[in-house]
Amino acid sequence: MFETPSLTEATLPATPQLAVFGHPIAHSRSPHIHAAFGHQLGIDLSYRAIDVPDGRLAASLARFAASGGIGANVTLPFKRDAVACCADLSARARRASVVNTLQRRGDAWFGDNTDGQGLVQDITERHRLDLRARRVLILGAGGASQAILPSLLDASVDTITLANRNPQRADALCDLIGEPARVRSVYWEGLADAGHFDLVINATSAGVQGQALDLPFSLLSARTLAYDLSYGASASLFLAWARAGQAWLAIDGLGMLVEQAALSFELWFGEHPDTELVFQDLRARAT
Ligand code: ATR
Repeated sequence: MFETPSLTEATLPATPQLAVFGHPIAHSRSPHIHAAFGHQLGIDLSYRAIDVPDGRLAASLARFAASGGIGANVTLPFKRDAVACCADLSARARRASVVNTLQRRGDAWFGDNTDGQGLVQDITERHRLDLRARRVLILGAGGASQAILPSLLDASVDTITLANRNPQRADALCDLIGEPARVRSVYWEGLADAGHFDLVINATSAGVQGQALDLPFSLLSARTLAYDLSYGASASLFLAWARAGQAWLAIDGLGMLVEQAALSFELWFGEHPDTELVFQDLRARAT
């Protein structure tokens, strides 16, 4: 019986090998986005979607590295597991304890988190909202919420209020971030007494499961940007609530998706693609 020969440098593919890991992953738009970035910048690349149905992210990443993988994205439900797969982390990934981008450095993975900066760029550059001194409410205290907190703080928002169905998780996330003067938690049931916010971010997975959130309109004013981190059908219930409550603007996370991808691409190739064309193309396909 012959063993499969391991790939040596001489046999590794010449085209840079990239992939996104998750479960489920079939509907990921990342392969399309990165192919478009590569085409735009004249960079030949291969970007696949790899399903990890058994939950063994580390083993999947190791197989990918052995076959020549130089970079990866990690999506739900593995963004926190990915931290343990990395020998070194960027400062923003360490602060958030969440990784969505990996880069092969020598024999190990370097981990970064581009989600938070992607969100900030979408809000400040595409939608031209100055985040400085804003009062922010984040709904949800899972991995998605954890990923964006450090970047919002760095963007000089005033305060961030966290509300989670399970209040212990919101308290634990406040403790993890460790900035009690700027990040505090409230009970979900207390939201009706919390006043209104400049930015209300839905970081729950309720919409993905087709569930509506029970939220008071008093969270919104005519100046509020309501932002759902998910996009497409998953964002529709939250955005319908925000429009019914007459928020200034209600937008989904498609722009964040493209911006975080561009930041990953920049880590791998040292060039930042133009995101607007790709965003408009995705938006047109979604409608
Ligand atoms: P992710 O990595 O996407 O953040 P997660 O870590 O499973 O996924 O977190 C999901 C978040 O959505 C949690 O904050 C969860 O609240 P609980 O911690 O109370 O479970 C929130 N969530 C999911 N469905 C919800 C619903 N119907 N109403 C309110 N919050 C919901």
